[in-house]
Amino acid sequence: MSQSEINKRKTFAIISHPDAGKTTLTEKILLYSGAIQVAGAVKSNKIRKTATSDFLEIEKQRGISVATSVLSFQYKDYKINLLDTPGHKDFAEDTYRTLTAVDSVILVVDCVKGVEEQTEKLMQVCRMRNTPVIIFINKFDRDGKDPVELLDELEAKLRIRVRPLTYPLGMGNRFKGVYNIYKNSFAFYRPSKSRISEESRVFSGLHDSGLDDVFGSAAAALRHDIELVDTIYENFSLDAYSTGQLAPVFFGSALNNFGVQELLDTFVEIAPAPASRSTTHGEVSPHDSKFSGFVFKIHANIDPHHRNRIAFLRVCSGTFERNKVYHHVRLNRQLKFAAPFTFLAQSKSLLETAFAGDVIGLYDSGIFTIGDTLTEGDVFMFKGIPRFSPEVFGVIRNLDPFKSKQLEKGIRHLTDEGLAQMFVQLHSNEKVVGVVGALQFDVLKYRLLHEYGARVDFLPMAAFKAFWVRYDNKKDIDDLVRFRSSSLYHDKAESLVFIANSEYSINLARENNPNAEFLSSTEHNIQTLHLQETAQITAA
Ligand code: G4P
Repeated sequence: MSQSEINKRKTFAIISHPDAGKTTLTEKILLYSGAIQVAGAVKSNKIRKTATSDFLEIEKQRGISVATSVLSFQYKDYKINLLDTPGHKDFAEDTYRTLTAVDSVILVVDCVKGVEEQTEKLMQVCRMRNTPVIIFINKFDRDGKDPVELLDELEAKLRIRVRPLTYPLGMGNRFKGVYNIYKNSFAFYRPSKSRISEESRVFSGLHDSGLDDVFGSAAAALRHDIELVDTIYENFSLDAYSTGQLAPVFFGSALNNFGVQELLDTFVEIAPAPASRSTTHGEVSPHDSKFSGFVFKIHANIDPHHRNRIAFLRVCSGTFERNKVYHHVRLNRQLKFAAPFTFLAQSKSLLETAFAGDVIGLYDSGIFTIGDTLTEGDVFMFKGIPRFSPEVFGVIRNLDPFKSKQLEKGIRHLTDEGLAQMFVQLHSNEKVVGVVGALQFDVLKYRLLHEYGARVDFLPMAAFKAFWVRYDNKKDIDDLVRFRSSSLYHDKAESLVFIANSEYSINLARENNPNAEFLSSTEHNIQTLHLQETAQITAA
């Protein structure tokens, strides 16, 4: 059964710094695959205005993004699962988590801007799991950086070896098209926002005099550039790509439907099918007969009358079946799902079976948190679902004491969703919320009020970053407990966290507690091994 099903699956995400062209490329890929018929069907899920008061916009975006969270479609013989990631940088953590559920990514870079801040951060997350990356340099219809300069920048800033598979001739107004170095074909650039077929011509090699006939004096420059590329960059190797060491690079213009066909065809040819994944008890192969999977995203239902949420689960092994009993490892509970759903060309439909690589939606009444594992009975948790230190912190102030319960519940649900992280100060029980960007505070306030009836404010807190503290013996953190206890917190999993108010303060803490580790990221399902000890600290 499932062996061939699994090998047909390509589960991936398109990622980029905002505005590089992720939404445009997604749409074009859907057009080429026939999943949609007209351009404009994919709505941008980015919050365009950075105005922090744009609540309605946030709500609208949330509605749209449920429908486009996973786009599943058929291309050639393959089943493609394209996982959407939020466009706004304040929601980057959601993107990082989604990256744990994919088998590869396409990274879009704007040829005018080159590698940007978010491009680098996303790449860091890909590197953590050696995710295979294909790079699409977009907007070649505009005058941007020189291709060699762009390739150098990719290698230097993204810390990955690159290998162009196509190479552009000209750019902006003088953009003629791209030469496919491996197929010796030239795709002619004919700007069009609607046509989706590309005109190309095959040559017998760079020596082919046909190049002179077609390009005249520009043929010499093309030959020179490609020979240079061949000497500078190592040959493409499927193995180096599959292990995240080497990124093939394409040039094009998503807006003008150029370079997309080539990208998509190469993607299905080389992108990996689902692979084995690490768990707390060794590796799980996608070909294992027993079902297993993990939750990487939780989405609150936008219907305010039903507080149901949707948990997105990535199937990692075996076959998921509707109405079969599965084991929720963290809660040690048996569960059955009567109405799981799948995402087919942007619409939800009832799912009967799903295979490794697929993403399914499960209605969740509040039993899931990010990182939860479901199995057929085995007791293990999937590893590698990262949780990063927030960048902005605020102390929760309850503005309506009669709604304390609602507030507590709301905060619990919204932190389950991963919208924010909460830390409780050990000696005062003061609650601090940490987020990636200040816009999330507005989302939190808005949702706490509208979904839970709780009114809150977040008092600004001078904090630099949160560090998860790992240690073997309690005496390793004597100094922290004695002198820095006001900076010690518990996170939701009761792990010990040090919130440093400056870089100086974390450096000092590291110096004075040399046997403890201070980590700026942790994993969702790995609870501290020191629960009892931190409990003692609390009591002290
Ligand atoms: P994002 O999801 O990565 O944030 O980017 P998105 O696709 O929304 O593209 C950002 C802007 O870049 C859009 O323009 C889009 O039309 C434009 N764009 C995308 N691909 C290309 C390309 O190949 N060439 C050129 N010249 N532009 C491209 P906008 O004005 O912000 O939005 P819109 O009004 O066009 O929707």
